[in-house]
Amino acid sequence: MPEAFWNVLVDVFEKLNSGEGYQLPEGPVNILNLGCGACFEGRVLNSFFGGEHLGQLSAHCFVTGIDPDEEAILQARLKHQDDKGADLPNFRFITDAVKKDSAKLPTLFDVVIMRHHNGGMTGSEADWFDIFKFGMEHLTDNGVLIVTSYNEVEYSISKRWPYLWRDKKFTPRIVADIPHRRHVEHISWPLVGYHPETWYEDGYCVAFRKTSNK
Ligand SMILES: C[S@@+](CC[C@H](N)C(=O)[O-])C[C@H]1O[C@@H](n2cnc3c(N)ncnc32)[C@H](O)[C@@H]1O
Repeated sequence: MPEAFWNVLVDVFEKLNSGEGYQLPEGPVNILNLGCGACFEGRVLNSFFGGEHLGQLSAHCFVTGIDPDEEAILQARLKHQDDKGADLPNFRFITDAVKKDSAKLPTLFDVVIMRHHNGGMTGSEADWFDIFKFGMEHLTDNGVLIVTSYNEVEYSISKRWPYLWRDKKFTPRIVADIPHRRHVEHISWPLVGYHPETWYEDGYCVAFRKTSNK
């Protein structure tokens, strides 16, 4: 269900906007989705960060998804095609596992997403920390990394990551912490607003901002 994920993005960006005046870049927005699987969230990411309403694709947002699961990546590609079966130009999918020693991608991203990382269920906590680190290293200065989870186990794991990340130049600062989100009652994101959805799939969320140590 895309609405639940959309709504948590609304929450995160409302906090960032009201708390520290954060604005998305004016030009095209680049998103990196780590552990994208079949990328159910791909179109939501494109619409939200491209400034469109849910369900409308944007030409101003580019989504790159990475996952080692070949079948899932095939599904992701099929989900992101036009009516004629041609790949939509704003989506790119890479079949690969992110690891401690993974080569860097050639570009940085404005926003990095880890949705349902399944920490504690598949892969070790250390593996998922390496994925988080890879995400942080691929963010632009002041970029935002968003982790959403089904449950408290994943949520608690993601809150430990900033204490494990050592970098001379940057610190991952928690800018939105949403434990156990259940109800959506008001409209507050100035651009597009909430959808009336109370589904819990993205009930837990932690968002980090890459902040210079200076
Ligand atoms: C629960 S799924 C989430 C998929 C999608 N983000 C969603 O919310 O529907 C977790 C995904 O993490 C992927 N994954 C596991 N290890 C990974 C790694 N080292 N690098 C990137 N993705 C990984 C798995 O293949 C799986 O598709």
